[in-house]
Amino acid sequence: MQLGLRNLLLLFCFSYFISTFSALSYDGVTLLSLLSHWKSVPSSISSSWNASDSTPCLWVGVECDNTQNLLSLNLTGFGISGEIGPEIGHISHLQTIDLSLNSFSGKIPPELGNCSVLEYLDLSGNNLTGEIPSNLKNLQKLQTLSLFDNFLSGEVPESLFQIPNLEYVILSSNNLSGFIPASVGNVSKVFLYLGHNQLSGEIPSSIGNCRRLQELSLEENQLTGGLPESFSNLKDLTYLNVRNNKFVGSIPSGLGNCKNLDFFDVSFNSLSGQIPPSLGNCSSLSKFAALKNNIGGNIPSSFGQLNKLSVLNLPENHLSGKIPPELGNCTSLIQLQLFSNQLEGEIPSELGKLTKLQDLQLQENRLTGEIPVSIWKIPSLEEILVYNNSLTGQLPLEMTELKQLKNISVFNNQFSGIIPQGLGINSSLVQLDFTNNKFTGEIPPNLCFGKQLKFLIFGINQLEGSIPSDVGSCSTISRLILKQNNLTGFLPEFAKNPNLSFMDISNNSISGEIPSSLENCTNITSINLSMNKFTGSLTALGNICSLKAVNVSNNDFTGSVPETLINLAKSSPSSFQGNPSLCLTCPPSRGSNCPV
Ligand SMILES: *[C@@H]1O[C@H](CO)[C@@H](O)[C@H](O)[C@H]1NC(C)=O
Ligand SMILES: *[C@@H]1O[C@H](CO)[C@@H](O)[C@H](O)[C@H]1NC(C)=O
Ligand SMILES: *[C@@H]1O[C@H](CO)[C@@H](O)[C@H](O)[C@H]1NC(C)=O
Ligand SMILES: *[C@@H]1O[C@H](CO)[C@@H](O)[C@H](O)[C@H]1NC(C)=O
Ligand SMILES: *[C@@H]1O[C@H](CO)[C@@H](O)[C@H](O)[C@H]1NC(C)=O
Ligand SMILES: *[C@@H]1O[C@H](CO)[C@@H](O)[C@H](O)[C@H]1NC(C)=O
Ligand SMILES: *[C@@H]1O[C@H](CO)[C@@H](O)[C@H](O)[C@H]1NC(C)=O
Ligand SMILES: *[C@@H]1O[C@H](CO)[C@@H](O)[C@H](O)[C@H]1NC(C)=O
Ligand SMILES: *[C@@H]1O[C@H](CO)[C@@H](O)[C@H](O)[C@H]1NC(C)=O
Ligand SMILES: *[C@@H]1O[C@H](CO)[C@@H](O)[C@H](O)[C@H]1NC(C)=O
Ligand SMILES: *[C@@H]1O[C@H](CO)[C@@H](O)[C@H](O)[C@H]1NC(C)=O
Ligand SMILES: *[C@@H]1O[C@H](CO)[C@@H](O)[C@H](O)[C@H]1NC(C)=O
Repeated sequence: MQLGLRNLLLLFCFSYFISTFSALSYDGVTLLSLLSHWKSVPSSISSSWNASDSTPCLWVGVECDNTQNLLSLNLTGFGISGEIGPEIGHISHLQTIDLSLNSFSGKIPPELGNCSVLEYLDLSGNNLTGEIPSNLKNLQKLQTLSLFDNFLSGEVPESLFQIPNLEYVILSSNNLSGFIPASVGNVSKVFLYLGHNQLSGEIPSSIGNCRRLQELSLEENQLTGGLPESFSNLKDLTYLNVRNNKFVGSIPSGLGNCKNLDFFDVSFNSLSGQIPPSLGNCSSLSKFAALKNNIGGNIPSSFGQLNKLSVLNLPENHLSGKIPPELGNCTSLIQLQLFSNQLEGEIPSELGKLTKLQDLQLQENRLTGEIPVSIWKIPSLEEILVYNNSLTGQLPLEMTELKQLKNISVFNNQFSGIIPQGLGINSSLVQLDFTNNKFTGEIPPNLCFGKQLKFLIFGINQLEGSIPSDVGSCSTISRLILKQNNLTGFLPEFAKNPNLSFMDISNNSISGEIPSSLENCTNITSINLSMNKFTGSLTALGNICSLKAVNVSNNDFTGSVPETLINLAKSSPSSFQGNPSLCLTCPPSRGSNCPV
C-alpha cells in the first residue's frame, strides 16, 4: 500500500488505527477514520467494521469490486449522527454514496469533490447545514445528486449544472436562496426538484433546453415573473409543480404540446389571463390545479378531451360563463372543484356521466336552476357542496341511494320541497347543512344511521313536525342547528354525547320540559332555546357545567334560575326574559343584592 506524505500527515491523528491495524487496506483505514467522527453508530456497524480485517469489503454498508476497491458506501437509515468527515474524499473509487436518512450535521465536506468517479450521491434526510460546495462540479460522472430535506443555505451553485450527465437533481426542502442559475438549461436533467426553498427571481427560459426533463418541481419558493413559453419544448415533461410562488402572466399555451404531462399545479400564484384551450391537448393530464389565482374567462370545452383527468381544481379565480357540458366526458374525474368563481347557468346534466366522481364543489358561484337528477345517481359521490348559489328545485328521491355520501352543503340557495325521508338510511353522513332554503315537511329519521353525523344544520327553513328521537341518541353530533323552522313536539331524550358543543333550536314551536337527559351532553358550550313554548324548570341546564352561553328567552319556563346560571343571567338578562314565571332568586350564599 502506497501512502503519500500528505495522506500520512492527514492520518497522523489516527496513528492508533495505523499502528494497530496495519493490515487493513487504505479504504478500510479511511472508513474507520470516518467512523471516529460519528456518534450513535448502531452495533451492526461497530461490530462489523473490524479493524483486524484486511479489507472492508464484507463490512455492513460496503461494496467492493473484484479488486477490493470500495465502490459503494450505503448507510441509509442507520440513525448515525455527527459530521460526515473530510476523509470521505480519500475513497477514490467510490461510485455510490448513500448516507440518506441519518442525522448527519455540519457541512457537506468539500472533499467530496475528490471522489471523481462518483455517480450517485444521496445525503437527503439529514441535518446538514451550510452551502452546497461549488467543487461538487468536479464530480463529472455524477448522475444523481440528492440533498433534499436538510438545512442547506446559500445559492444553487451555477457550476452544478455543468456536470454533463447529471440527471437527477433533488435539492428540495432546504433553505436555498438566490436565483435559479441560467446554466439550469445545460445538460441532461430528467428530474429537477428545487421546491420548498427560498429561491427568488425568474425561471431562466433556458429551462426549455432541458429536452429530457420529465419532472420539474419549483413549488413553495418566491419565484417571480412569468412561466416561460419555452416550457413548450419540454415534450417529455410529466410533472410540473410551480404551486405557491409569485408568478404572474398567463399559463403558456404551448404547454398543450406536452403530451406526457400528467401533473400540473400552478395554484397560489398571481396568474391572470385565461386557461389556454390547448391544455385540452395534454392527453395524459390527470391532475390540473390552479387554485387561488386571478384567472378569468371560461373553462375550455377542450378539457372534455382529457379522459385521464382525475382531479380538476380551479377554485378562487374569476372564471365565468357556464360549466362546459364536455366535462362530462372526463370519466376519470374523482375531484371537481370550481368553487368561488363567477360561473353561471345550470349545472350540466352531463356531469352525471362522471361515475367515479367523489368530490363535487361548486359553491360560491352564480349557478341557477336545479341540480340534475343524474348527479344524484353518481354512486361514488361523497361530497356535494353547492352552497351560496341560486339553485332551485327539490332534492330527489334518488339521493337516498348514495351509499358513500358524507357531506351535503346546500345552504343559501332556494331549494324547496321535502327532504327525502330515506336520506340517512344508506349512508354514513357526516355533515348536512341545508340552512336558508325553503325546505318543508319533516326532518328525516335515521340521519345518524352511519354513526358519523357531526353537523346537523337545517336552520331557516319551513320544516315541521318534531325532532326525530335519533337526533338525541346520536352521540357523534357536535353542532345541532334547527333554528327558525316550524318544529313542534318535545325535545328527544339525549344519550351520552361529549361531542355536542353547540345547539340552536330557537324560533320554533317546541313545547314540554327540557329532558334531564340533556345533562348527558357534558360538553355543550352554547345552547339557544329561545322563542319556543318550553315549560318546566331550568334544572337540567344548570347541571351542564360547560355552558358559556344560554338563551332561554320567550318561553314559559318556571321556577328559579339555577345557581350555576346566575352569572350568565346577570351578564345577559335578555337571554332569560320573556318567561313570566321564571324568577332570579338570590341564593343565601350571595347575599341579598342580586338584580332581577
Ligand atoms: C474482529 O475480527 C477478529 C479476527 O477475525 C476477531 O477475533 C474479533 O472478535 C473481531 N472483533 C469483533 C468486534 O467482532
Ligand atoms: C441502499 O440500501 C438500501 C437498502 O438497505 C436500498 O434500498 C437503497 O436502494 C440502497 N441505495 C443505493 C444507492 O443503492
Ligand atoms: C436534526 O434536526 C431535527 C429537526 O430539526 C432535530 O429534531 C434533531 O434533533 C436534529 N438531530 C441532530 C442530531 O442534530
Ligand atoms: C481533496 O479536496 C480538497 C478540498 O476540496 C483539496 O484541497 C485537495 O486538493 C483534494 N485532494 C486531492 C488528493 O485531490
Ligand atoms: C433561511 O435563510 C434565511 C435567509 O435566506 C434566514 O433568514 C433563515 O433564518 C434561514 N432559515 C433556516 C431554518 O435556516
Ligand atoms: C452552460 O450554461 C452556461 C450559462 O447558460 C453557458 O454559459 C455554458 O456555455 C453552458 N455550457 C454547456 C456545456 O452547455
Ligand atoms: C390540439 O392539437 C391539434 C393537433 O396538433 C391541433 O390541431 C389543435 O388546434 C390543438 N387544439 C388546441 C385547442 O390547441
Ligand atoms: C364531449 O362531450 C360533448 C357534449 O357532452 C359531446 O358532444 C362530444 O362528443 C364529446 N367529445 C368527445 C371528444 O368525447
Ligand atoms: C355565503 O353567502 C353569505 C350570504 O350572502 C355570506 O355571508 C357568506 O360570507 C358566503 N360565504 C360562505 C362561506 O358562507
Ligand atoms: C313557520 O316559521 C316561520 C319563522 O320561523 C314563521 O314566520 C311562520 O309563521 C311559521 N309558519 C307556521 C305555519 O307556523
Ligand atoms: C369539548 O369542547 C371543546 C370546545 O368546545 C373541544 O375542544 C373538546 O375537544 C370537546 N371535548 C370532547 C370530548 O369532544
Ligand atoms: C344518559 O343517557 C343514557 C343512555 O345513553 C340514559 O340511560 C341516562 O338516563 C341518561 N342520563 C340522564 C341523566 O338522563
